[in-house]
Amino acid sequence: MTSPLGSVPDAIIVGGGVIGLSAAWLAARAGMRVSVVDPAPGRGAAWVAAGMLAPAGEAAYGEEALTRLHLAAAARWPSFAADLEEAAQDQVCYRACGTVAVAIDASDRTALEDVLEFKRSLGLRADPLSASECRRLVPALAPGIRGGAVFPDDHQVDNRRLVTALIEACRRSGVEMVSEEASALRRTPTGGVDGVELRDHRFLPAGAVVLAMGWRTRTIGGVPPEVLPPVRPVKGHILRLRGDPAEPLLERTVRALVHGRSCYLVPRLDGSLVVGATVEERGSDERLQAGAVHALLDDARQAVPGLDELELEECATGLRPGSPDNAPFVGWTSLERLAVATGHYRNGVLLAPVTADGVVALLAGADVAPVLAPFSPDRCL
Ligand code: GLY
Repeated sequence: MTSPLGSVPDAIIVGGGVIGLSAAWLAARAGMRVSVVDPAPGRGAAWVAAGMLAPAGEAAYGEEALTRLHLAAAARWPSFAADLEEAAQDQVCYRACGTVAVAIDASDRTALEDVLEFKRSLGLRADPLSASECRRLVPALAPGIRGGAVFPDDHQVDNRRLVTALIEACRRSGVEMVSEEASALRRTPTGGVDGVELRDHRFLPAGAVVLAMGWRTRTIGGVPPEVLPPVRPVKGHILRLRGDPAEPLLERTVRALVHGRSCYLVPRLDGSLVVGATVEERGSDERLQAGAVHALLDDARQAVPGLDELELEECATGLRPGSPDNAPFVGWTSLERLAVATGHYRNGVLLAPVTADGVVALLAGADVAPVLAPFSPDRCL
C-alpha cells in the first residue's frame, strides 16, 4: 500500500462535511498541509440543513455551557463568512435577518413565555412580542397567532453555498481532497494513530488524524469503541419551497410553536424557503416518509398560510450527529495523534467556525479556547 500524497501531511481530516471542510480550510490557512478524505464532500448533514445560526432559538434548559459556546460561535460568524467569501471568491449569503418566534395557541404562548426569561438570563436577546407586533415584523403570519418573541441575533447562512464555498476555499488553499471512503485508522505500536486506510486499500500516512464524520464517527475501523465518543444519527425531514424573489413571502426567519410541536421557516434571497425539521430517533433510516412531510408542511402553513402558493421543490432527510447532552465533542482522544470534531447535533453550521478554530489550535499544539474546553471527547465515556 502506498500513499498518493507526495509527503506526509500534518493532518488528515476524515469527513468533508461543514466541520471537516471548515477545519481543513483554516488549518491550511494557518500553514499546515492538510488532506480531507470523503467520497462526497459537502453532501452530509449540512447539505440538508437550513443554515440557521440561532443561539437564542436553540437555547435549552440545562445547556448553559453549550449556549455560551453558541454565542461565541455566532459572534465568530461575520468574520468567518467574510474571510471565506474572499478565499473562495464566492458568496455564502450570511444574512443578519433576525428571527421571529410565534405561538399558535395559548399553551404554545405560555411555553414560549416560560423559556424567554431563561434565555435572557443567559445573556441572549429574546424579547416578547404581542401578536400584532409579530405580524408587523412578519406580515405573512397567520391572523390567529397568539403572540411571540423576537430573537434579533439569530441569523442565517445559505448552507449549500457555504459548503460549496468551503470546498473551493480548500482547493485554493492547497487542501488535498481524497474522494474515497476511509475504512480504518492505522495504529502505531505505541498506541497512537499514524494514518488512514481507505476502502480501496490505499494507506495515507498523517502527522495527525481528525475524525469529523458526523454520526458515522464511530463506524471507522481500527479503533476500540471506548475511544470514540457516543454519537448517534438523529433524523430530520426538511422541505425546500420556491417563491418569487421579487415578492418574498418572508424577510426573516420564523420559528413556530404549533400545538406543542416546533418548526422553522428560513427564507433565502433567491426566493426559496427552507422548512424544517422533524427530530426523529430512527437509527440510520434515511427514508422519506409521507407522514413526516405532511406534518411538517401542515405545521408550517398554520404559521404562514401563504406557503400554500409556493412550489414544493424538494423533500429530504438528513441525519444529525446527536450526542447524549446535545453538545459537540472537540479534542484529542486517548489515542495519540487522534482527535475528533463531531456531535454537533442541531448546530453544526453555527458551530463550524469555532470548532475549526479549535481543531487548528489542537493541531498547532495549543489548547482550545476556554469556551470550547468543556466539550472534550472523553466527557461521556
Ligand atoms: N438546526 C436545526 C435542526 O437541526 O433542525
